[in-house]
Amino acid sequence: MFEDHEPHKGGAARVLAVVNQKGGVGKSTTAVNLAACLGGLGKKVLLVDLDPQGNATSGFGLNRGERQQCVYDALLGDVPVEQLIEPVEVEHVFVIPATIQLAGAEIELVSAFSREAKLKSMLAPIKDDFEYIIIDCPPSLGLLTINALTAAEGLLIPIQCEYYALEGLTKLLDSFRLVRTHLNADLTVFGVVMTMYDSRTRLSQQVVEEVRDFFEDKVFDTLIPRTVRLSEAPSFGQPITLYDPTGKGADAYRSLAEEVVSRV
Ligand SMILES: Nc1ncnc2c1ncn2[C@@H]1O[C@H](COP(=O)(O)OP(=O)(O)O)[C@@H](O)[C@H]1O
Ligand SMILES: [Mg+2]
Repeated sequence: MFEDHEPHKGGAARVLAVVNQKGGVGKSTTAVNLAACLGGLGKKVLLVDLDPQGNATSGFGLNRGERQQCVYDALLGDVPVEQLIEPVEVEHVFVIPATIQLAGAEIELVSAFSREAKLKSMLAPIKDDFEYIIIDCPPSLGLLTINALTAAEGLLIPIQCEYYALEGLTKLLDSFRLVRTHLNADLTVFGVVMTMYDSRTRLSQQVVEEVRDFFEDKVFDTLIPRTVRLSEAPSFGQPITLYDPTGKGADAYRSLAEEVVSRV
């Protein structure tokens, strides 16, 4: 159980929001596997699922059985956040799950007091208990995502190696600047991770070049390859490090985790 773990000794957690308002670019895959690989490096990690779809929750096998409570209950209800933290199969890794109940939050937040800072307040009492807090965002720039941007110190932006990869990113960067100006002066773009890279196609290479021209050294050296194993793992409720520990996908996410740690 969560209570059995000693808080880590290094001060407040680094809070990273995995964000891109496009769906299907690899946010949840990155959130789950990065969390697992940071755990593998001995880092104490909390993954907060902020998407009503709950893909990060089910990605860690937490969707089974009926769940009474989810992140919603601490965000907009009065359930203490500590009660929502669940251990997973990977040592050092914990998850605050999301259920479809969170879908209502987007509307309820509109009229809530201090509506952009709900997640920040929710995380405040547990920030010292983890080294990393990773937030998996929904595919929109609505209030849930704005809450993630307000609570985070860095954005981790997955970009799929596909046509129009950069399309829509100006909108995300507009939101980033607005949040930085009005709500969270410390927010930075922590890094950009290229996902579903296919080394055999010229397109993948072109997209990486294009994104590197735009984001320069924000782009991680690690390229996440497109592999069937990465797409299969969630249906087994396992991160890639358990489902296919010796494959290319696990190697890539381990290497990404090392880059993340070295940037911090
Ligand atoms: N590197 C990859 N290789 C193959 N399939 C991937 C990879 N990354 C993600 N996928 C698959 O692509 C789909 C979208 O990924 P997901 O992480 O859910 O995106 P998002 O959270 O941005 O909507 C999922 O079916 C996922 O399993
Ligand atoms: Mg997702």
